Amino acid sequence: MDSIVIEGGTVLEGAVPLGGSKNAALPVLISSLLTADKCSYDRVPALRDVRTTLRLLSRLGVTIERDVVADGRLELTADKVHEREAPYDLVKTMRASFLVLGPLLARFGEARVSTPGGCAIGSRPVDLHLQGLERMGAVISQDHGYVDARARKLRGAAIPLAFPSVGATENLMMAATLARGETVIRNAAREPEIAELAAVLTKMGARVSGAGGEVIRIEGVDELHGVSHEMSPDRIETGTFMVGAALTGGDVLIEDARAEDLEAFTAKLREAGARVEREAGGVRVTGNGRARGTDVATLPYPGFPTDLQAQMMVLMSVSDGASVITENIFENRFMHVQELNRMGARITLDGNRATVRGVAELSGAPVMATDLRASVSLVLAGLVARGVTEVSRVYHLDRGYEDIEGKLARLGADIRRVDRDD
Ligand code: UD1
Repeated sequence: MDSIVIEGGTVLEGAVPLGGSKNAALPVLISSLLTADKCSYDRVPALRDVRTTLRLLSRLGVTIERDVVADGRLELTADKVHEREAPYDLVKTMRASFLVLGPLLARFGEARVSTPGGCAIGSRPVDLHLQGLERMGAVISQDHGYVDARARKLRGAAIPLAFPSVGATENLMMAATLARGETVIRNAAREPEIAELAAVLTKMGARVSGAGGEVIRIEGVDELHGVSHEMSPDRIETGTFMVGAALTGGDVLIEDARAEDLEAFTAKLREAGARVEREAGGVRVTGNGRARGTDVATLPYPGFPTDLQAQMMVLMSVSDGASVITENIFENRFMHVQELNRMGARITLDGNRATVRGVAELSGAPVMATDLRASVSLVLAGLVARGVTEVSRVYHLDRGYEDIEGKLARLGADIRRVDRDD
């Protein structure tokens, strides 16, 4: 199993390219199920979650042409979909697999998808997905760990979401494109990935308006057609490099980064003392002495993203003063805390609130990754820790970061991947 070994104490400097957005790519690739035509995608990131999605689509009968690892280009054709079932072994490794439910049901009238169950960061239910589909006329039953959904033809419905869930908004938006009549999703998630999926669906012939806002309207059509789309750059990868630059007192240009998608995060980084400037080529972040303690609370977009909470906590761990970090999206997204404390951080937990007392220095240690964003936070911590940090179980990291060690090494970090066969 691979580990990442980092010798701390280097400063990140230079320019770094971004991969395509993971959270945009997964629903967009899945939306290819809505048409029998060929769909072409560019800037598809070579990530483990993308490969899992392709394995799932291929198992359903989607034809996959071209190799994503080679040049980020993919062609998917869902003209011979022979399976309607997303099995447990794929859904359990990646919750986004559940997004095939809406498209399969809308196009073929039936779908059977394993329930995701728990994962390291919390119970993560799918009740909002199911309630929405029921409102659209689906008959849903659950047995043996699977959700079974049927509807000869979905019908448009008013769907008020109790919480602006990203996944539920995407699943319902895709289902509604082929329903009869108008669907109105209220309290919809407003993440940029929602607007991106809506733009793709619109290019496919769907009639979607309001995506990116709280109310999304979808007027169902009889069929959708093929599309060509280039994925946006990954905003969470962007934020991760921004923290890396601030943390090491470096100077990094994050190429093609879209600052407008990260305003709440950027405001907090500035409050902590980093310099963040928009440039023609992207976003430049310059460290500016020791960071200041800054309180952070995660919220649905446009609030501070939960996917950058762990990275921000590393910056707070070595900042001057104390900060309180409140996690409002996931119930158990603090697994990095124990590991950061083993590296000398002073963090205490009380429910969904972490109090971080900044220390002058972290010390390198063997640590274990527990989920995607926790693992990258340990890599960041290793960059500023004294001595060597070895992060094990980096398969979590490979779910969402493309060649992170190569990119950090090119910015000057002393970092390498090693194969530990124990
Ligand atoms: C997506 C992102 C993930 C990000 C998260 C929140 C993808 C592939 N993943 O995950 O990186 O951290 O948004 O920004 O885009 N919930 C329910 N019932 C539901 C659905 C969700 O209670 O039916 C709860 C979840 O348990 C969680 C919260 O809502 O506490 C947010 O979940 P959601 O927005 O759905 O996140 P994902 O789509 O899973």
